[in-house]
Amino acid sequence: MTTNIAVLVSGRGSNLQSVIDNIENGYIQNAAIKVVISDVEDTYALERARNHGISAIFIDPSSFRNKLAFEQEILRTLEEYEIGLVLLAGYMRIVGREIISAYANRIINIHPALLPSFKGLHGQQQAFDYGVKISGCTVHFVDEGMDTGPIILQKCVPVLEGDTADSLSARILEQEHKILPEAVKLFVEGKLKVEGRIVVRT
Ligand code: GAR
Repeated sequence: MTTNIAVLVSGRGSNLQSVIDNIENGYIQNAAIKVVISDVEDTYALERARNHGISAIFIDPSSFRNKLAFEQEILRTLEEYEIGLVLLAGYMRIVGREIISAYANRIINIHPALLPSFKGLHGQQQAFDYGVKISGCTVHFVDEGMDTGPIILQKCVPVLEGDTADSLSARILEQEHKILPEAVKLFVEGKLKVEGRIVVRT
């Protein structure tokens, strides 16, 4: 059975691209990205989707009376495309309760730091400014907190002499592009089980 995937984005979409590529090259099987939804108009992520024949939709948060109405439109779109897995790939909003409860343990986020450190925006910059010697990235299920959900995979990335926040971010991004597709593959193959806040591989 094919898992229908929706990807929520806000920007350049390189993580989206890594999942597209890994479906196309057969690393991830029995999965299809059905729709890419952006909360920002004219993102490169939407263009990447269109380039691969994937429905690309801009949902304008400012055209709804509140966050709930905006998210109900997202939910309606997810239902329309019969989505079984939602990926947050550079989606810069906190997902609200309605979507979380409709898709419990079926929403996956990629974060550019080793959680639970450096949650929120600019995780790479936060880690760099703090002076850590090792940072990295995290793929996790999304719960109602900000970057607090059960962790699926993490990858360490060393901070090197002479690094800037940008060079560190670029090195972290390379690893993001590996662990997000890996997590999607595990999910689609039914190999992830959530016990409390622990993700067990089955
Ligand atoms: C990625 O580094 C991702 O981890 C980060 O935004 C970037 C998006 O890049 N996400 C967050 O910071 C979420 N809080 P991309 O659009 O090229 O995938």
